[in-house]
Amino acid sequence: MANYQWYPGHMTKAKRMMQEDIKLIDLIIELVDARIPQSSRNPDIDELGKNKARIILLNKSDLADSQKNKQWMTYFNNKGLHVVEVNSKSGAGLKSIQGVVQEACKEKIERDRKRGILNRPVRAMVVGIPNVGKSTFINSFAGRACTKTGNKPGVTKGKQWIRLNKSLELLDTPGILWPKFEDQQVGLRLAMIGSINDEIIHLDELAYDLIHFLTKEYTGLLENRYQISSVEGKDDYEILKEICFSRKCFLKGEEPDIMKAASIVVEDFRNGRLGRITLELPLFDPTDSET
Ligand code: G4P
Repeated sequence: MANYQWYPGHMTKAKRMMQEDIKLIDLIIELVDARIPQSSRNPDIDELGKNKARIILLNKSDLADSQKNKQWMTYFNNKGLHVVEVNSKSGAGLKSIQGVVQEACKEKIERDRKRGILNRPVRAMVVGIPNVGKSTFINSFAGRACTKTGNKPGVTKGKQWIRLNKSLELLDTPGILWPKFEDQQVGLRLAMIGSINDEIIHLDELAYDLIHFLTKEYTGLLENRYQISSVEGKDDYEILKEICFSRKCFLKGEEPDIMKAASIVVEDFRNGRLGRITLELPLFDPTDSET
């Protein structure tokens, strides 16, 4: 999966496409990365998707802290959004989505019923920032049993719909949201999960930040994983140097290869080898009462 470089042209195009597609649907299924549920969203979706039913999927929940997944679910629920915890790769959690769709679209279904429209399927689209798992989700959710419709008389020209069952159709191309890059903290967290091209970030800085976070929030984890002595009272550089020794990362002579160790730590985190870790927790949002 390519990492995207975002510039204004990209964003304008993504936004325009989304505005067009949103006109065709009843329900927005928004994927976020459960390790950074806030930083992997774009708040513009609230404006773009107003008047639409909404579901949030905490995707890659297998890589995130299960207790913190629950806290995030409560947070989104309190904002009036329906939330499902899923692992699109394994398919875990996907079964419960159908029921939540019915719940989220209750008003629309009721409106249709009153107008005598029966059995009109809910039309949905999947949206999310790059790399959040949109294609993986569509593939596992739709599975092989689905039939594709589209480019047939009576079907919106050029659009492909995946018919999941008689009550749900999914637009087969997901909507791409742009991340909120202007916020440095957000940029850093996106880099940690690997959503920003590694060529434009400094891997060692990323590793230091990650080590700093882990020593505070996940006590004992680094010691266990890398078989190093207690990190207490040590600075991030010292800790990374110990990981170098423990993993035998050396340059010529006995000089520690800091970049090699940095890449080991970052990759271990991204692949879940450090365990299930969530990088951010919901903050109190003073605008909550408006949503
Ligand atoms: P996108 O369409 O939103 O851009 O994302 P895509 O589906 O391409 O998924 C991006 C990466 O995230 C893929 O890994 C995919 O396997 C992984 N992924 C998606 N959902 C989940 C999930 O729930 N849990 C976990 N652990 N991983 C998930 P990749 O490394 O690019 O490909 P691959 O090595 O898995 O084939």
